[in-house]
Amino acid sequence: MDIIVTDDHDALSNKASEIILECIHQKPGSVLGLATGRTPVETYRKLVQAYEADRVDFSHVKVFHLDEYLGLDKDDSDSYSYYLHETLLDKVNLRKENIHLISERLLEKRRSLHHYDRLIDRNGGIDLQLLGIGSNGHIGFNEPDTDLYLDTHIAKLAKETIRTNRTLFNDKSKMPSKAITMGIRSVFKARRIILLASGPDKSDIMNDFIHSETITPSIPATFLKLHGNVTVIIDKAAAQKYLDKKGNDHDHIN
Ligand code: GLP
Repeated sequence: MDIIVTDDHDALSNKASEIILECIHQKPGSVLGLATGRTPVETYRKLVQAYEADRVDFSHVKVFHLDEYLGLDKDDSDSYSYYLHETLLDKVNLRKENIHLISERLLEKRRSLHHYDRLIDRNGGIDLQLLGIGSNGHIGFNEPDTDLYLDTHIAKLAKETIRTNRTLFNDKSKMPSKAITMGIRSVFKARRIILLASGPDKSDIMNDFIHSETITPSIPATFLKLHGNVTVIIDKAAAQKYLDKKGNDHDHIN
């Protein structure tokens, strides 16, 4: 697992967007897995800027969506579909048929959400999966639990997640208690994974995650340690505790 510590959120977003641009330059038909949440907003903004400056062509790029709330209309301004359209999808030359969002329609039309995983496979698999991390260690909406689901599934949100994410809702009364999320295997199959963490609220979990010597469902992100191609991009605020501990371990060894 490569770890890149940046000075601030802007540098983190620069680094993440440059990696995504490089991926598209190397393979114009790249398949991208897109996260939502606060952390990648600036990364997406930089991708839009690159598109406007003619630095990138999205016409052959395909995108898949990491997770979505259950019970919100897709046009609801609090849905992740709406978020992705607003921040990236409607602002670059992605083709409509190359945009695959998780929606309740998927659930209505298919008996099994595994159809979504099969759709990813049929499109050649994800080349680059962008991830954030919850302050409880969740990835997508794979919440800490005794068992973790392999494939795309309906997840019950942890109390902590509901509390944190409700603050981001325009209509707080609409905060769902369930979501649809790609599973651990769905994420793990991506050829490259970029995990972003920013701000002091992520300092505890990034310390626990990076220093964890076990794969544990109580910190779902730890499964990423088994993957051979993960880059963690973390700003100094989120890296604070991890760097303090690293410094102490180093002192100890010497
Ligand atoms: C949210 C989403 C994730 C996101 C993570 C971090 O609850 N389920 O997809 O990556 O938690 O969110 P944020 O970037 O807002 O801290």
